[in-house]
Amino acid sequence: MAEWRILGQLTDASNVTLLVESGGRRHVYKPVRGERRLWDFPDGTLARREVAAYEVSRRLGWQVIPPTRWVDDAPMGPGSIQEWVEHSGDAVAVFPAGRVPGDWLPVLEAVDGNDTPLVVAHADTPALRRLALFDLVVNNTDRKGGHVLSPRAGAVAGIDNGLCFHAEPKVRTVLWGFAGQPVADDLLSDLRMARDDLPDLLSGLDDDEKSALVERIDEIVLSKTFPHPAGGPVIPWPPI
Ligand SMILES: Nc1ncnc2c1ncn2[C@@H]1O[C@H](COP(=O)(O)OP(=O)(O)O)[C@@H](O)[C@H]1O
Ligand SMILES: [Mg+2]
Repeated sequence: MAEWRILGQLTDASNVTLLVESGGRRHVYKPVRGERRLWDFPDGTLARREVAAYEVSRRLGWQVIPPTRWVDDAPMGPGSIQEWVEHSGDAVAVFPAGRVPGDWLPVLEAVDGNDTPLVVAHADTPALRRLALFDLVVNNTDRKGGHVLSPRAGAVAGIDNGLCFHAEPKVRTVLWGFAGQPVADDLLSDLRMARDDLPDLLSGLDDDEKSALVERIDEIVLSKTFPHPAGGPVIPWPPI
C-alpha cells in the first residue's frame, strides 16, 4: 500500500480536493466521497471522468492532462489522483481593451466594476491548440483560465477535468480563440488513429457517453476545423 500524507485541502475547490504526498511526489486527490451533487452529471462519477480525461490525452499523445489515475486504497476511499503541476506563467489572461499582445487571441469583452473595458484572451501555441481541441473532443464543460496551467514554456496542463464526457453538447471554455481555424493534419491523424480504441479504454463512462465521444471525433475529422461556439452558455463562469 502506498504511503499517503495529506498536506492540506485546496480551498478554492468546489469538491473535496486534497493535496497529498505519495511516493515522494505531490498529487491532487479527489475522493468520490467528497464530490458535490450536480444536476447534470450522475452522482459519484467525477473522479472517473478525471481519469478518463487523462486516458484520452495519453492515447492521443497530446500531453495536455497531468498523469491521473484511479486509486481504491486511499485515506478517504476511492477516487482520482493527479500529479501536481508547478505553474509558471499564464496561458489565459485579462487585459485592458486595446492591450492584448499581438500574438494572443481575444475571446471575451467585459467591463470591470469601474466600467473599464477588459478583454479575456489566450496565447496561441501548439500546446494550447491541442488542449482546446481536446476539450471539444471530451466535451469539457468547465475550461476556465485557472484550469489551464503552464508548467514550462511550450507545455500546458489542463486540470479539473471532472465535468467532461456528457452525452449532450455542453462545451464551456475560454479557449474559443481558435474557432474557425483549420485543425492541423497531425492532430486529425491522431484523432483518426485513436477513434476506435478510445471507448474501451475509458472505464466509468456509459455507452451513450462513449458513442457521443466518437461522434464528436468524427465531426472534427470531417470538418477539419475548430468549430464556432454553438448557442447557449459557451464560456464558464467565472472565465478566469
Ligand atoms: N494537478 C494540479 N496541479 C496543480 N494545482 C492543481 C492541480 N489540480 C488542482 N490544482 C489546484 O487546486 C485547485 C482546486 O482543484 P480543482 O481541480 O479545480 O478542484 P474542483 O474540482 O473541486 O474545482 C485548482 O484551482 C488549482 O489551483
Ligand atoms: Mg475547479
